[in-house]
Amino acid sequence: MPKVVVLPGDGIGPEVVGAALEVLREVAPDLTLEEHLIGGAAFDAEGDPFPGSTRDALAGADAALLGTVGGAQDSAWNRLPRPQRPESGLLRLRQHLGVFANLRPVRVMPGLEHLSPLRPEIAAGVDLLIVRELLGGAYFDPRRERGEDAAFNTIGYTRAEIERVSGHALRAAQERRGGLTSVDKANVLEVSELWRETVTARAQQYPDVTLHHEYVDSVATLLVTRPERYDVLLTENLFGDILSDLAAVLPGSLGLMPSASLGAGAGLYEPIHGSAPDIAGQGVANPAGTILSVAMLLRYSLNRGAEADRVETAVQAALSAHPTRDLGGKADTTELTAAVLPAL
Ligand code: NAD
Ligand code: IPM
Ligand code: MN
Repeated sequence: MPKVVVLPGDGIGPEVVGAALEVLREVAPDLTLEEHLIGGAAFDAEGDPFPGSTRDALAGADAALLGTVGGAQDSAWNRLPRPQRPESGLLRLRQHLGVFANLRPVRVMPGLEHLSPLRPEIAAGVDLLIVRELLGGAYFDPRRERGEDAAFNTIGYTRAEIERVSGHALRAAQERRGGLTSVDKANVLEVSELWRETVTARAQQYPDVTLHHEYVDSVATLLVTRPERYDVLLTENLFGDILSDLAAVLPGSLGLMPSASLGAGAGLYEPIHGSAPDIAGQGVANPAGTILSVAMLLRYSLNRGAEADRVETAVQAALSAHPTRDLGGKADTTELTAAVLPAL
């Protein structure tokens, strides 16, 4: 029986994961689901945001489903030494699983264009995939340093790190519409020069993929003015973090955005939004991003594409009839989930 480790985390994490589990149990009742601690909740219980008990549970797992980690700006967790903060638990989880390719699909579902704050003719038909490198760059800089009057985080990449994530993006482009845009800052950064050169070389093996290179600042504009230009976008860790939050305005809300993080072993599935301390505990969080992450889990880790399709179609129908508050509607977490279940 496939095993999924469930990590609700902090803030709205338990609320959106609770909703997603209702859906997962319905479409895949045979799974073994095991709940464990991560983030601030894990620090409070065990003094470590990525405790040994969670690490051990992942050993035999096929996939992990994560909610969110982190507290409000003024939370006590943010005064802890960096390695003990909730976000460090998430970074260690990603590193432990070796998930270097983070897939963040951005799809405006047909009929739901009106949920976007952008003009419907801009949002209509958007279907792109951001492939974000997840284990390198400034996030995992071994030379990071905080001094009294100076601090450093270096964006460093090796050719091997760029090659492995490029392979993922090229294969994704091949399976989609054959377009790959590699996003960098090669007009200024040496690391981007290596990035561009490596992606170009790797793309030679994929003659059916059309590769373009664009600068990240320009992509930021074009993503919200002419998003139809893009099929697959490949970029480094920090650029991908920022561009994927930006791209969330296309479907209408951060709360709609799922992700899959893949490497050699178990995959990690999580919504891209944070713990939303401003609405945590109110029961109003949009669970769609987490439910759609469950669809990605079914597709990529369990090879259950038909069930994944069912979940995506049900979310689309539920959102259309019951838009949540972040989308200008009235539905709360329970109401949206209750609308997804019968539509499965
Ligand atoms: P956030 O994504 O938590 O919230 C940004 C805004 O979007 C807020 O107004 C929030 O209410 C809203 N929002 C987010 N998800 C929503 C949902 N599902 N439904 C309705 N509204 C939603 O970003 P932030 O406020 O910058 O960060 C809060 C905390 O979350 C910080 O501690 C941060 O480090 C952490 N964080 C964690 C993750 C993660 O666990 N993967 C991701 C991003 C931020
Ligand atoms: C995300 C989040 C994380 C990141 C943080 C919480 C470590 O913003 O998943 O996008 O920056 O990767
Ligand atoms: Mn982010």
